[in-house]
Amino acid sequence: MSSAAICPKKFSTSFVISQRRRILHILSRCKEGVPAHMELNEGYVMQSSNNAQVKFYTGENIPLELHKVRVVQKLHLRPIQRRYDALEEAGYNTFLLNTKDVFLDMLTDSGVNAMSDNQVASMMVADDAYAGSQSFDKMKAAVEAVFGKRLILPVHQGRAAENIIARTFIKPGDVIPMNYHFTTTKAHFELNGGTLCEIYTPEAFVIHSDFPFKGNLDIGKLEAVIQQYGTERVPFIRLEASTNLIGGQPFSIANMYEVRKIADKYGIMMLLDASLLGENAWMIKQREPEFKNKSIKEILATMSGLCELVISPAAKSVRRAAAVSAPMSRHCLKK
Ligand SMILES: Cc1ncc(COP(=O)(O)O)c(C=O)c1O
Repeated sequence: MSSAAICPKKFSTSFVISQRRRILHILSRCKEGVPAHMELNEGYVMQSSNNAQVKFYTGENIPLELHKVRVVQKLHLRPIQRRYDALEEAGYNTFLLNTKDVFLDMLTDSGVNAMSDNQVASMMVADDAYAGSQSFDKMKAAVEAVFGKRLILPVHQGRAAENIIARTFIKPGDVIPMNYHFTTTKAHFELNGGTLCEIYTPEAFVIHSDFPFKGNLDIGKLEAVIQQYGTERVPFIRLEASTNLIGGQPFSIANMYEVRKIADKYGIMMLLDASLLGENAWMIKQREPEFKNKSIKEILATMSGLCELVISPAAKSVRRAAAVSAPMSRHCLKK
């Protein structure tokens, strides 16, 4: 990280140098393992070696990126006319563009992030046995620690998990209530004969509203949908964390409890799409007073614990470890 990134231009060179020294000092302390939540002199706040911050001149805490990039990939910057032509040739469908015509590829966050040194190193010691792999045990323990689920099915990507869920639980004519769909979810659920029923809050699309949980499910409408179609046609209720297609809006845990009540009343399972779970958990911590003092780990465990099924396309933050997990609940046994 360069100190120029956090020092505004109007400061003198000596000020910038002194700030840079301080930041380097903080960074060196990070490496030395300064205890979590330690206040360094004059407002430099270290929250943990993974969550370091520096106080900006406005008083605002700015997060520090405690990584350095060691592998680089060549990018192409074609002349603007060539890029325009490429867009036209692709019929304005970004899936049909070739990367040689793309400067910054922001089509997806699925599996396109850089790997850490630890991830690359662990590939060398991975157990690639055809069956009985120790790497599976490691992954199972990690998934269990985060989601608290015992039954885990690894798949290559989130959409594969959606396919398995859809083929296992959805039959033609079924209706699946949810806060909002994701493209691959809609494809798999519909291919298996299901119909999506999006029952978001009235605030969900009000851009100027500062309602904190626009990803909430409308509880009144949820019960009405179940009564209209009957429990036999509702295999599960799907809650998507940080609803991707409506701008990353979160749901609250209070809303999850309400959904759980309805699910229990009618004996229906809940499915958590945990693709963007961390962001939702963070917003719960910021915005839901009951969870202000809970750790992200505790919030994740609460969210996961309220659902029978969880899909986690882990390729968004770590590579290739998407999973479907389900506890032996009465609902699963019933199915
Ligand atoms: C909410 C949601 N569900 C499912 C998926 C599918 O995951 P994957 O890209 O790993 O197939 C995504 C991917 O962006 C997503 O955002």
